Amino acid sequence: MTARIIPVDPFELVVFGGTGDLALRKLMPALYFRFKDGQIPPNSRIIGTSRSELEREAYIDSIRQALTRYIAANELDPEVVDAFCQRLDYVPLNAMGDSGWERLEVALSDGELVRVFYLSTSPDLFGSICHHLGAAGLVTPGARVVLEKPIGKDLASAQRINDEVGAIFPENQIYRIDHYLGKETVQNLMALRFANFLFEPLWSASAIDHVQITVAESIGVEGRGGYYDTSGALRDMVQNHLLQLLCLVAMEPSKSLDKDAVRNEKLKVLSALKPITGGDVASNTVRGQYTAGAAGGAPVPGYLEEIGKESSTTETFVAIKAEVENWRWGGVPFYLRTGKRMPVRASEIVIQFRQIPHSMFAPEAGEIQANRLIIRLQPDESVKLLMMTKDPGPGGMRLRAAPLNLSYAEVFRSRYPDAYERLLMDVVRGNPTLFMRRDEVEAAWHWVEPILEGWQERNLVPRSYIAGTWGPSASVTLIGRDGRAWYEDDD
Ligand code: BG6
Repeated sequence: MTARIIPVDPFELVVFGGTGDLALRKLMPALYFRFKDGQIPPNSRIIGTSRSELEREAYIDSIRQALTRYIAANELDPEVVDAFCQRLDYVPLNAMGDSGWERLEVALSDGELVRVFYLSTSPDLFGSICHHLGAAGLVTPGARVVLEKPIGKDLASAQRINDEVGAIFPENQIYRIDHYLGKETVQNLMALRFANFLFEPLWSASAIDHVQITVAESIGVEGRGGYYDTSGALRDMVQNHLLQLLCLVAMEPSKSLDKDAVRNEKLKVLSALKPITGGDVASNTVRGQYTAGAAGGAPVPGYLEEIGKESSTTETFVAIKAEVENWRWGGVPFYLRTGKRMPVRASEIVIQFRQIPHSMFAPEAGEIQANRLIIRLQPDESVKLLMMTKDPGPGGMRLRAAPLNLSYAEVFRSRYPDAYERLLMDVVRGNPTLFMRRDEVEAAWHWVEPILEGWQERNLVPRSYIAGTWGPSASVTLIGRDGRAWYEDDD
């Protein structure tokens, strides 16, 4: 089945940080694909801005190079690339100062089109950019602003940024992006839970033993050391992506997909997270930092060498035992872990069901494993339900765990859009359901902050792990202490 393309209104998209890594690696390729599919209407334009004094042609050249680098050759059509580049413009501009704003005004049309400002810069600049947009009279009544994560580095800075942006844009015109919410398989989590009757009666402490959420990356910090070293895995991944995944697993069904209906339910989950404070910080969290090791069979440097520093207490791995304090989830641990330079790139959610209360089978039948639902977010997207079955053939009743397997590649053969494609079009459409509301971001910081403080106060520096391994052994102990183990795909 081919995807249905829902037209959007003509728009002008201004990308602040237009020469940056995210713009080149994600935003421009995403826009290219939307353009190629005919979703970007004629007279829509994309205007890159940054401090660099570039001519339009030079900017377009850099975007062409980026498209060639980040899009598979068989998806790149030279004629489409040429036509796409016609839509591009560039305005040099100082986000902190006064220069360039009139040029931006000239580059924009008279305000008839949907106007989107995408702030793909350091969050320290968000306030200043919005202030200048307001002062230059560029914020038309329907204008939208998109804020890339991270929104701040703690609760206070997030509130300050939200205040500064909120002074210019009303909340319903602010789109705080968490690209995990735009991923196809993350969307499918909603379908799985709320479009099937099957799981809902089982989706609680009465049937579920625990939940694991793993987002493992095999890459290191990839030239982003300057940013990453001020951030670390907790701020970079847990405060946003992993907590959003946790929300989708734990939330109550909402009345509809209405933006506030869904976000209200997610907020309730964030507010119900048990605070990790005091001595619990040491027992319920593990920090790690990779040393030299291997990736894909080749030697790779350690974190310090990669960022060119002698020392750093920034974590590149974190594991956390979290709990959601409400009726549905009381007593069900949510084990979260994420890290760079893991053995593989693999993001998955494992719902571990309880063991059966009594076995009628003889011990020779073999071990009865508790059911597991494994939602593989990326790569090799799939949903797998591990069930006990009878091992076929004679020889009495022998039991074996076998998966019911829904593989995306086998069932849905077409390319499905990258998260940024969906989210960018949602901004143009004016649909903020998949974006984080101010109270959600602040509730997430509220939970994360005591962990950051606890690490600092108790001097809990990261333990080392060799690049290409699953983090420090303390992470195995964190879950092992509860008589459980991290899920390893073995079939
Ligand atoms: C970003 C983080 O938000 O997500 C990066 O800043 C991380 O450090 C990236 O690599 C992971 O995204 P994805 O889509 O590749 O899983």
